[in-house]
Amino acid sequence: MASITIRNLDDEVKELLRRLAAENDRSMEEQARVMIRAAVDGQIGPVGRIDQIEKTLRELTSAHGVATPAAAPAGKALPRGLSGKRILVIIGGGIAAYKALDLIRRLRERGAAVRVVMTSAAQEFVTTLSVGALSADHVFTELFDRNDEHDVGHIRLSREADLLVVAPATADLMAKLANGHANDLASTVLIATDKPVLMAPAMNPKMWAHPATRRNRATLQKDGVAFVGPAKGEMAESNEAGEGRMAEPLEIVAAIEARLDVSPKPLSGRRIIVTSGPTHEPIDPVRYIANRSSGKQGHAIAAALAKLGADVRLVSGPVTIADPAGVKTIHVERAQEMRDAVEQLLPADAAVFVAAVADWRSENSAGEKIKKVAGEGPPVLRMVENPDILAGVGHHSQRPGLVVGFAAETQDLLRNAEAKLRKKGADFIVANDVSHESGIGPSGVMGGDRNRVRIVSRAGVEEWPEMSKDEVAARLAALIAERLKTTVV
Ligand code: CTP
Repeated sequence: MASITIRNLDDEVKELLRRLAAENDRSMEEQARVMIRAAVDGQIGPVGRIDQIEKTLRELTSAHGVATPAAAPAGKALPRGLSGKRILVIIGGGIAAYKALDLIRRLRERGAAVRVVMTSAAQEFVTTLSVGALSADHVFTELFDRNDEHDVGHIRLSREADLLVVAPATADLMAKLANGHANDLASTVLIATDKPVLMAPAMNPKMWAHPATRRNRATLQKDGVAFVGPAKGEMAESNEAGEGRMAEPLEIVAAIEARLDVSPKPLSGRRIIVTSGPTHEPIDPVRYIANRSSGKQGHAIAAALAKLGADVRLVSGPVTIADPAGVKTIHVERAQEMRDAVEQLLPADAAVFVAAVADWRSENSAGEKIKKVAGEGPPVLRMVENPDILAGVGHHSQRPGLVVGFAAETQDLLRNAEAKLRKKGADFIVANDVSHESGIGPSGVMGGDRNRVRIVSRAGVEEWPEMSKDEVAARLAALIAERLKTTVV
């Protein structure tokens, strides 16, 4: 299947894409898909000038209700969960610095007061002027700036915040803090603080994988620094893909909220297991059977439950998205590994099975790569059934008080969901339609960012309107909290 290579686009188009992606809180690839979809649907005429395309896209985005909150419909309340909190954002020098602009905006619309320190390298990527406009404050750049009437000194800067967030956290900033250097304002503020520090690393995948960076990260974690991301994906500034892309601004906001512990915690003291993502069933060391699950919905549910105070253990198949903040994630590949990991986590108060577990695996996966042999046809794979993890837990002697399953169906959605409810011993099933019209691809359930589900239980069926996967997750977490309220801890 063809894929979009962002770096091959014209610079002007790339810049537009980058800006719109940041504003709409999407990856650049996702923004490109939205634009292509709009063009295919005939919503964008044959306009030649980039400013006309931008204008049309802006109109389209707001018409579809995905406008940036600044342009949100009148009367729509913005979340104010960070009211009264003071966040010091330290912007490091990297291409991901542009996302820090959106982060500042997201923090402010949640009621936080934001102050910003920029390294000199950061100023090569974004200007103090735009950062200052968004933070509505002076931007701090110099360690010794005696002429600066705004100079509040690095000690006050670092202490007058409730939390320091470094975004993007470059390899250099990580190295400086890990080794106690203080030779510019950013590193001095970081070492002078007594407040929690959150880092959102962004760097080339090879730099992220380098033993020195790994060592620094381990040291920082030992020192109590929290991390969000990086995610896997194509890098905006290089010819490489891999782990190193900065977490999206909303993920960073979620990590900040978790770290500051600002939301109500109806699930505190509750242990919840979540499965997410696909499983990969090996054919030989290089080939495997997989499915289209992205893990977005399962990871969002794990994050939403953690936000409500639950002690969440996420068992994730292979995905390209980052581990959710505030959640203990166990990475597995195969269905059998997922089953073992889940059973080891019992007992629990609730378990939510979102993973798209492969139903079958190859009976004897080859130890060596299967070669083509002239004259012999293709290999014949004998498939055997994988364990049904949900059914195993639903009928387990240590069954959690609440067991939630998902049902991905292409036909007879409700009938199949009801059958799964009974067969698998679940309390309710979150059913979604993954048929071709609505289900698969960037705008569908599998791989996309939105979902329309029905909650099927013995009491009946509840239809939820289409919403983002994060909203589905938040609502499901609230429902789980409600159901567990009646259970004694
Ligand atoms: N599930 C599981 N282990 C499996 C298969 C499915 O835990 N081996 C869970 C999924 O996580 C989901 C639910 O069972 O919560 C239903 O998954 P789905 O793929 O819709 O159903 P299947 O049982 O695989 O049935 P079918 O593929 O025939 O629809």
